[in-house]
Amino acid sequence: QPKRPDPGALLAWYDRHRRRLPWRAEPGQSSDPYRVWLSEIMLQQTTVAAVGPYFHKFLGRFPNVTALADAPSDTVMRLWAGLGYYARARNLHACAKEVAARGGTFPDTEAGLLELPGIGPYTAAAIAAIAFNEKSTVVDGNVERVITRLYAVEEEMPRAKPIIRALTEPLVPSDRPGDFAQAMMDLGATICTPKSPACSLCPWTDPCEARALGIQESFPRKAAK
Ligand code: ADE
Repeated sequence: QPKRPDPGALLAWYDRHRRRLPWRAEPGQSSDPYRVWLSEIMLQQTTVAAVGPYFHKFLGRFPNVTALADAPSDTVMRLWAGLGYYARARNLHACAKEVAARGGTFPDTEAGLLELPGIGPYTAAAIAAIAFNEKSTVVDGNVERVITRLYAVEEEMPRAKPIIRALTEPLVPSDRPGDFAQAMMDLGATICTPKSPACSLCPWTDPCEARALGIQESFPRKAAK
């Protein structure tokens, strides 16, 4: 009988194996909401590897949200060229202008962030957790894979989404919600991968129901095509 997954075991794994990504604060340092926001917008439809150079380019040119807001649109669009999904760049600029108009301070809650251009439910939850340590529930594709395996969720995607959310919520630790969100992302990206997951290296092998059944690759369940 698998035991309950321990968020502390995941955080201990994260402390040892977390990816060093340009937008992540060093352990013990607080996260700059501007950097977190910029990275999350860039990562919406783009891989971690592709975002890196653009993130550096934007930060170098626009060190804070007011600098970005004050830039001409064509300068922002030109710097974005190559990242694709250009509506993101237009929303990015519109969002920067709104935040600049608020004195350059991002709203510090999930609900407040959700009102800004280009910030949907996933992005609002991610920024609230990572930049402000709000106990929000951050669910992306990585989290969906980890959770459906951990609990052997038989419901097919996308109907499983509310179930996944309900199973994730009680795992979020009050003291480190942002690290927990990023630990889930790193676990999904490096260990609990779609094909051939590295279960022997996973901090949650014991509680994983799919692993106990030997059918981890079959989650998340999808309708037969
Ligand atoms: N994908 C989206 N946000 C991310 C983050 N903060 N870390 C790693 N991968 C991500």
